[in-house]
Amino acid sequence: MPRYLPYADMDKILSLSKRRGFVFQSSEIYGGLASTWDYGPLGVELKRNVKEAWWRSVILERDDMVGLDAAILMDPKVWVASGHVENFSDPLVQCRSCNMRFRTDDLTSEACPSCGGELADPRQFNLMFKTFMGPVEDTASEIWMRPETAQGIFVNFPNVVNSTRKKLPFGIGQIGKAFRNEITPGNFTFRTREFEQMEIEFFVKPGTDEEWLQTWVQERFDWYVAHGIRRENLRLRKHESNELAHYAKDCYDIEYRFPWGWAELEGIASRTDFDLRQHQEASGQDMTYFDDSVEEGQDQRYLPYVIEPSGGVDRAVLAFWLDSYDEEPDPASKSSDAVRVVLHLHRELAPVTVAALPLSRNEKLTPTAREVYAKLRKHFNTQYDDAQSIGRRYRRQDEIGTPYCVTIDFDTLEDHQVTIRDRDTMSQSRIPITDLVDVLKDKLEHGW
Ligand code: GAP
Repeated sequence: MPRYLPYADMDKILSLSKRRGFVFQSSEIYGGLASTWDYGPLGVELKRNVKEAWWRSVILERDDMVGLDAAILMDPKVWVASGHVENFSDPLVQCRSCNMRFRTDDLTSEACPSCGGELADPRQFNLMFKTFMGPVEDTASEIWMRPETAQGIFVNFPNVVNSTRKKLPFGIGQIGKAFRNEITPGNFTFRTREFEQMEIEFFVKPGTDEEWLQTWVQERFDWYVAHGIRRENLRLRKHESNELAHYAKDCYDIEYRFPWGWAELEGIASRTDFDLRQHQEASGQDMTYFDDSVEEGQDQRYLPYVIEPSGGVDRAVLAFWLDSYDEEPDPASKSSDAVRVVLHLHRELAPVTVAALPLSRNEKLTPTAREVYAKLRKHFNTQYDDAQSIGRRYRRQDEIGTPYCVTIDFDTLEDHQVTIRDRDTMSQSRIPITDLVDVLKDKLEHGW
């Protein structure tokens, strides 16, 4: 399909977001809480579809993966053992005049970027949020909000092996919230203090980790392309040794060309046996795997190595959304400079899949239109819209990315047929109501 914009303008996305209900500022009526966002009626569907597409592709469609949903609150010893208490920090400097804080790696001069004042010496600032568990704050234990979902997977490794009898290589995937007290959040939903991750810990035999790292890098890159992101807006970047996280031996970032420049969508790290070993030592529990494919007499028990593809749900949503945004000449308009705003979202990600549109609010049309709507919504996320002209309603569906509109007109009352309109080509075809669900299912399966 032709695209007219090389990539979307952030201001346009922000205006569409608020107007159509994708994302709202959190606590907006109180002035808004900085860098926190609420997904509105359309945003929540888009986000659910992104998570669903990930889950289907990495868990349901593979026989070497299982899922998990671990608690956000974990024993504080987890974060000591994982190294987060000691290492999960950013160097931060504070201005002696205005008290603003900055990450040292964001600074371009020795003076405060806000007021020009003198900056104090850098100190480490731990990014984990603390809270209290128990009713009385004095005696309650201090615990952390998880900064990554990964540790919930590591500590459950023996439980999953024992309950599923999975053999190496296999992985555990999880989607869930994570919290980081970021010093410089920003760029809309790109960097926030509360966000969602989609993480895989893939356990392999030591020695096969480099090959599996390459396999997962390719797999995850292809997933973004298969779900609609233009290849030219994605790139891979290998980490320099000085930017590797404290647990990583090697890491690749999948980066997207955001309107403000290339930035990380997902990291695929080689974590060796760092985490399982740390938890084994700290908990005293055996975290090893018994490999019955290894000959007796050789090391049958070992700690597996781990490849970790870890993506942000919010960043993926933003990238799919930005990449699908387009403004095209509007062929339905008499004015030559009229534009049609359209989200060319992958059909599986679109917040609304089908719109049921009676040609008008004429009372003769309404019962049949409602019947068609009731039939469709059992199978698809369907919206009913009968307000304003049909042309305007097509445009409203285009700008939220609805792949198919079904129009019920006066002929429908005679011939029991409806018109399906395709979002991308704007072509229309007439089909019997009895075939509607099957035709749409077929289009959804093969249409992209
Ligand atoms: N378990 C490994 C880990 O957490 P990470 O690179 O720190 O690795 C993984 O985070 C992904 O989580 C990132 O690629 C990004 O998509 C997302 N992410 C991290 N911090 C984020 C933030 N403050 N706001 C939104 N997404 C974030």
